[in-house]
Amino acid sequence: MSAPNLVIHKAVNSDVRDLVKLESASFVSSDGLLTERAFRYHIKRGNLCLIAREEISGEIAGYVLVLPHRKSARVYSLATSARHQGKGVARSLLHKAMEEVRQRNIPLLKLEVRRENTPAIALYQSLGFHIQRIRQNYYGTNEDAICMQIAFI
Ligand SMILES: CC(C)(COP(=O)(O)OP(=O)(O)OC[C@H]1O[C@@H](n2cnc3c(N)ncnc32)[C@H](O)[C@@H]1OP(=O)(O)O)[C@@H](O)C(=O)NCCC(=O)NCCS
Repeated sequence: MSAPNLVIHKAVNSDVRDLVKLESASFVSSDGLLTERAFRYHIKRGNLCLIAREEISGEIAGYVLVLPHRKSARVYSLATSARHQGKGVARSLLHKAMEEVRQRNIPLLKLEVRRENTPAIALYQSLGFHIQRIRQNYYGTNEDAICMQIAFI
């Protein structure tokens, strides 16, 4: 399932420049931005990095990075470009990522999100993620993390 006029594909090395641009437009450096090297590492390792692009122009609209392990996978990062927000891009990326996690027989998908990030929390809840617990000062600057998860079994 994807938003209209979007294609979703697995990232390859030639996507890294676009990914880094989107990353720096979406987060501040104190968030610990993913670098070109980090993206290359995740691609090489076979971690799940999905990109949404506009079908015609090829412009990057969003990405999600999921780290799969045997017993659970973790949504490590997710962003939609400002121009594409509110059009179902993140929802489509997460749907696709959840499908992949299920196909790999991983029973649980987890994530942490800043308590203040209400758009992201609303998105995760609408997809069936539940709040598991709150980790105080998780981000180091008096900012709590909401830990969420969805089980597939
Ligand atoms: C959070 C983010 C990824 C959402 O991306 P998006 O592509 O705009 O989201 P979608 O259009 O797929 O929205 C799906 C749902 O998310 C929620 N949502 C998205 N934006 C919202 C907003 N501004 N306010 C409230 N809820 C919002 C809604 O539940 C929405 O469903 P609806 O359209 O039926 O109401 C995007 O705002 C973003 O990149 N933010 C900066 C980076 C970030 O915070 N990443 C998440 C880190 S955990």
